[in-house]
Amino acid sequence: MKAHITVLPGDGIGPEVTAEAVKVLEHVGQAFGHTFEFEEALLGGCAIDATGTALPDETVAACQEADAVLLGAVGGPKWDDPTAKVRPEQGLLGIRKALGLFANLRPVKLFPELLHASTLRSEILQGVDILVVRELTGGIYFGPREEAGEDGDRAYDTMLYTRPEIERVVRLAAQAARGRRKRLTSVDKANVLASSRLWRRVTSEIVEAEFPDVHLEHILVDAAAMYLIRRPAELDVIVTGNMFGDILTDEASMLVGSMGMLPSASLGEATNAAELPRGLYEPIHGSAPDIAGQGIANPLAAILSAAMLLRHSLGLEREAKAVEDAVAAALADGYRTADIARPGEHAVGTEEMGAAVRGRIR
Ligand code: IPM
Ligand code: MG
Repeated sequence: MKAHITVLPGDGIGPEVTAEAVKVLEHVGQAFGHTFEFEEALLGGCAIDATGTALPDETVAACQEADAVLLGAVGGPKWDDPTAKVRPEQGLLGIRKALGLFANLRPVKLFPELLHASTLRSEILQGVDILVVRELTGGIYFGPREEAGEDGDRAYDTMLYTRPEIERVVRLAAQAARGRRKRLTSVDKANVLASSRLWRRVTSEIVEAEFPDVHLEHILVDAAAMYLIRRPAELDVIVTGNMFGDILTDEASMLVGSMGMLPSASLGEATNAAELPRGLYEPIHGSAPDIAGQGIANPLAAILSAAMLLRHSLGLEREAKAVEDAVAAALADGYRTADIARPGEHAVGTEEMGAAVRGRIR
């Protein structure tokens, strides 16, 4: 097959880790007989420096024309001024919205070799395999708001959800649960928030009517934060709103030891004849400015994001699996970047880890 992939390296370690993910995709192309073309565009702080805006129109156009988008990370201390009108994060939220990427899939799967890397006891972690589906283009990150302004002492954000926004993400999550252990946990704050009561009602209706084979449970977000570290192996698919999903996925990343291990896929409606969704694929970690440019960042989250790209936007399941197996093989053979190495263990750099994965793609 032929595919056109837009790459948004972004800021900090973004360019370093996406470079390894691109090399892996090129390798997969050669090994399996596909032609992948790559085009780079600006997003985040680097876009602000070059154009004055975090999301230039050309970037939106380049993403709209692509079969899939691969993203690194955005942000850094250089653009952190809280009074600034333009911020790198606007680029990230903006591109998700512009592409209609309403569902963010964040799989949290433990590689047995990394049991030690978590701060949690290994017996709690055995068998952890969670898929968090975070609503991505609605909720409090996009609701009506008012800045405090120069001398104002009042500011607000609004958590607003509509039935169609809830329905489509719940359908996607329930569908995913169907292909897994058929358990769906919906997370909300229905004891306090009106938007959560709507979320809970619509979720129950959709699952009861359309997914009778899927077991649904509702839990409150504060309890969910606790269950994630008390009984994580019992969780299968979690579906939740934008902010709760943002917070819970950072917590969940600690189950696997490092943010450097977690990929994500942000999906929209199917756009092509093959019924594959448009998607943007990015590691869940940030731009890690403290280690940027040193060649020591863990590229595995970016590489695993490339595997999700192959699976979800290109329909290449065999190729996706080959990349995931290669990551597992590199870990089994002892390759560790600094974030997942034990004290005293030899740590490899970003490029060496990328090469170790490429060399294990079968
Ligand atoms: C994430 C990040 C972003 C978000 C920030 C950088 C805007 O935390 O992808 O989880 O909140 O979505
Ligand atoms: Mg986050």
